[in-house]
Amino acid sequence: MLELARVVMARAYAPYSRFPVGAVVRGESGELYPGCNVENAAFPLGSCAEASAISALIMAGERRIIEVLVIGKGPALVSPCGGCRQRLHEFADDATPVHICDANGRHRTVTLGELLPLSFGPGNLSA
Ligand code: THU
Repeated sequence: MLELARVVMARAYAPYSRFPVGAVVRGESGELYPGCNVENAAFPLGSCAEASAISALIMAGERRIIEVLVIGKGPALVSPCGGCRQRLHEFADDATPVHICDANGRHRTVTLGELLPLSFGPGNLSA
C-alpha cells in the first residue's frame, strides 16, 4: 500500500498548497485503489487524495473499504481531514485500520472509529 501511495503522491496536482498527498484504500476483494489530491485555482474546488481513491473503488464496482493508508509531505504523520473521515465512514467500519504516514513512510495505525468517534452515518438514516 505504501509503495502505491508514494507513486500517486508523486503525481498529485498541488501547486497551491505544495502539499502532495497519496491515499490508498483496499476493497473487500483485496484490490488496492489509489488517489492523490487535485487542487484548483478556485481553492474550494480542490479534492483530497482519499476522495479520489474512494471514487476509484466505487468505479471498480466495490462498496466496502477494509484498510486505508494516507501519506503526505513533511515530517508529520498525515491523517485524513475531517471531511475525509466522514467520506471513509460511508464505506468502512469503526474497526477499519487507517495507516497514517509521514513522507519517510514512518507510520502509526489507528482505527476509523478513533478518528471519527460518535459518528453520524448510513446507519442513522436506515434506522
Ligand atoms: N489533503 C488531502 O488530500 N487529504 C487530507 O486528508 C488532508 C489534506 C490535501 C488537500 C490539499 O490539496 C492539501 O492536502 C493541503 O491541505
